[in-house]
Order: sequence, then structure tokens, then C-alpha cells
Amino acid sequence: MELYTVSELSKCYENWNIRLRKKNETYVIKNLNLTINENEFICIIGKSGVGKTTLLKMLGGIEKPSGGGVFYRNMELYKCSEVKMEEYRRKEIGFIFQDYKLLDEITVRENILIPQILDGAKREVAENKMDNLVKLLGIKEKKFFYPYELSGGEKQRVAICRALINNPNVILADEPTGNLDSYNTELILKILIQIKKRKKTIILVTHDKEICKYADRVIYL
Ligand SMILES: Nc1ncnc2c1ncn2[C@@H]1O[C@H](COP(=O)(O)OP(=O)(O)OP(=O)(O)O)[C@@H](O)[C@H]1O
Ligand SMILES: [Mg+2]
Repeated sequence: MELYTVSELSKCYENWNIRLRKKNETYVIKNLNLTINENEFICIIGKSGVGKTTLLKMLGGIEKPSGGGVFYRNMELYKCSEVKMEEYRRKEIGFIFQDYKLLDEITVRENILIPQILDGAKREVAENKMDNLVKLLGIKEKKFFYPYELSGGEKQRVAICRALINNPNVILADEPTGNLDSYNTELILKILIQIKKRKKTIILVTHDKEICKYADRVIYL
């Protein structure tokens, strides 16, 4: 069963060239066609700057393409209503950002709870889920810390908890183990394998050959 259909997808960024005083257009992704099936575990690899993060963001409904389209089941992202898009981001997707995107003003606990709060979940249920996740990822002691009080690997694990708490259908992960030691990388890998067993789809940017071994398909950008 097809989950995503990417058709003739392009992204062009415009920059202002100060020296030449003119607009500069760069195509990061050009006419990309791709299908991703339900319950697939996909790894995306490619050299720095090739457009991996850009592609992931376009799939996640947070970066509007310059051309072509992204279909999720029967819904065309960026063409449907804002309500549908918001629901797609909140209910279907768990996004793990390369630079974590944690809110420094609130604690680890509150960062992880955000998707549940937005989803209108009962406080007690949400707290329970959060407690289980921080335990699983070994950051229980950091629950009341602020993100700026954490190491890179700890922040990464908080970002992973936040992406998982709504039990999304698709995990979009941008180098989720980039800052982790081998123990935690293996832990994340085990969690991903568990998630796949629950019929979820995983699309993951990584440089880790070990993780690629577990993928159903590796896409080279
Ligand atoms: N908002 C933006 N405005 C202009 N150019 C951008 C913007 N975002 C990304 N780019 C450019 O698009 C290209 C691809 O960026 P992207 O972040 O997708 O690369 P990547 O493959 O994820 O690289 P890395 O492996 O280093 O994370 C880069 O050259 C970058 O400069
Ligand atoms: Mg990137």
C-alpha cells in the first residue's frame, strides 16, 4: 500500500546576492519522483547540502515545495486546507529535527508534553506516556532540567521522546543518532525496530551504515 507519492518535486531557494545585487536561485531538489509504502523503513543518505533535510521537511508538511507535489494517502499536502495540514502534522507525523528544536524556556518534561497538550489529551494519560518515554530513553533524571542544561545527546533523546509521544503513523527523523554514543544509538535502533513492528513507517536521514542495514530501502540523494 502506497503511503507517500512524491511527484516531480522541486525546491528552489532564493537568496539575495549582496555583491552582485541580484537574486540568486538554487535548486536543491529537482523533479524528484518517489513512492514510499506503508510500514516501510527508509534510510536517506547523501552528502552534506544535497537536500536531505529539505526533502524530509517537505514530506512533513513544513516546507512548501516550489514545484510538484507530495501526496499522503489521497491527500495532496500544501493543496489541502490548513486545518487538514495541521491535523496531518499533529496526528500523523513525529518529526525529529537535526537541530532538535527544543524550547529553551520550558523544561524537558514540558517540551515532551507539547504534542499531547495540542492533541487535547488528558493530563494524567499524557504524564504517564511522558514518564515511560523518559525512562525508556534514560533521561528520567533530566525531566525538570531546561534544554540548555543538557548535553547534545540528551537533547537529541528529548527530541525523540517528543516525536514519539503522540504515537504517530510516520516517523521523520533527521540524523536522530548524530550526537549519540554507540550504546544510545543501539537503543534508538531497537526502538525503531519496535515501531516498525507496530506497522508504522520510518523515514530516516542517517550516515550510520549500521542503521542502513535494517532499512527496507536506502535512497541515495
Ligand atoms: N531557507 C533556506 N534558504 C536558502 N537556502 C537554503 C535554505 N535551507 C536550505 N538551503 C540550502 O539548501 C541546500 C540543502 O540544504 P539541506 O539542509 O536540505 O541539506 P542536507 O542534505 O540536509 O545537508 P546536511 O547533511 O549537512 O544536513 C543547502 O545548500 C542550503 O544552503
Ligand atoms: Mg540536513
